[in-house]
Amino acid sequence: MRAIGVGIIGLGWMGKLHAKTIGVMREAALVAVCDSDTAAAEQVAGASGARGYADYRALLDDDAVEAVIVALPPYLNLEVVREAIRRGKHILCEKPIAHDLSDAYAIRDLASGYDRKIMIGFTERFSIANEDAHRIVQGGALGRLTFVRANCRWASKEKTFGTGGGHGSWFTDPSLGGGILTAVGIHYYDLVRWYTGAEFVEVYVAAHRPPDSPTGSEEMMTLLGHLDSGAIVLFDLVTTLPKRSPSDRRLELVGTTGSIYVDQLQHFLMAVSEHGIEVTPGLADTGLALPESMYLSEEFGSVRRELEYFVGNCVLDGAEPHPSVDDGVRALEVAVAVVHSWETGVPVALGAEPAPAESPR
Ligand SMILES: NC(=O)c1ccc[n+]([C@@H]2O[C@H](COP(=O)([O-])OP(=O)(O)OC[C@H]3O[C@@H](n4cnc5c(N)ncnc54)[C@H](O)[C@@H]3O)[C@@H](O)[C@H]2O)c1
Repeated sequence: MRAIGVGIIGLGWMGKLHAKTIGVMREAALVAVCDSDTAAAEQVAGASGARGYADYRALLDDDAVEAVIVALPPYLNLEVVREAIRRGKHILCEKPIAHDLSDAYAIRDLASGYDRKIMIGFTERFSIANEDAHRIVQGGALGRLTFVRANCRWASKEKTFGTGGGHGSWFTDPSLGGGILTAVGIHYYDLVRWYTGAEFVEVYVAAHRPPDSPTGSEEMMTLLGHLDSGAIVLFDLVTTLPKRSPSDRRLELVGTTGSIYVDQLQHFLMAVSEHGIEVTPGLADTGLALPESMYLSEEFGSVRRELEYFVGNCVLDGAEPHPSVDDGVRALEVAVAVVHSWETGVPVALGAEPAPAESPR
């Protein structure tokens, strides 16, 4: 099998994880890396054998780079994606697609008709439990989805969201694409769209920002959403659990003829429907450590599975990438409405028309 030459722009928390992941893949070879912080570029270049650059344009001019991973603070995505398209590269752009809708729409315009692959990095779609659950939903066993509940609770070593995790200061700044309502919650806005095939029509959000937070960042949120299918969504996100509290990431999907429970950390799922009960034991019998299993392992690693899909299925075999640029734009539209609802304290409507209600509210 031919290995695709990959370059990575941005070598912070996520870019380094991509570099590590490509190091264990057969379909991809890391040929170039870039960070404006030259020490970071030198360090990853030295460890991987890739060429190191401080200027992303120089990396894009490197002919060995066929596909590029953009792992930058989101407010830089438009400029870099534009230059990558100019040079005919395949692109995996991290989520969120941009920090605001104007840049997101500009990326969508640039991508329209482009004859190379562009994918958005919604890694959660590639967790094996989500893939299995999505396959069951698509197979129709659950009927029409009417209710989605999700939670994401981090047992963080950090005292405050965005401190001590190694991310840049953009990570807590909503105007740059950061903050939990956008940078973290967006994975779940995307998952809800992907599972249900429906669009959000309204969101109502409560959040909590500790008065003594050194970053001024929200640390927890709850969302109540309505979809154009008539389904309702309940989602909560807590990014700073007290020390030693267990992390917890679950999803429940309820349909007219069945339901699924997914534990995203243990990769465990249970589906109950008219066809019977399907259980996937997940990590119960593998003994894999969690961070390893979540991102890198051959069977369970979501980042590894994401990159194998992007490089293998899309770049090498020609499949149209999902999550697409449009998925990136739609999820950001939800995130913008979420932030707006939290800022104003009222429900915020999105573009689509609601389906006629089956019964009055
Ligand atoms: N898919 C996921 O699960 C996931 C997880 C974490 C982060 N992300 C995404 O990955 C992206 C990066 O996040 P992060 O946490 O790694 O951020 P980070 O702040 O840790 O890293 C960003 C890096 O970009 C570099 N940089 C800034 N300006 C640059 C420029 N002009 N040229 C070259 N390098 C430049 C910085 O020096 C830094 O090393 C974001 O879009 C984020 O939302 C995705």
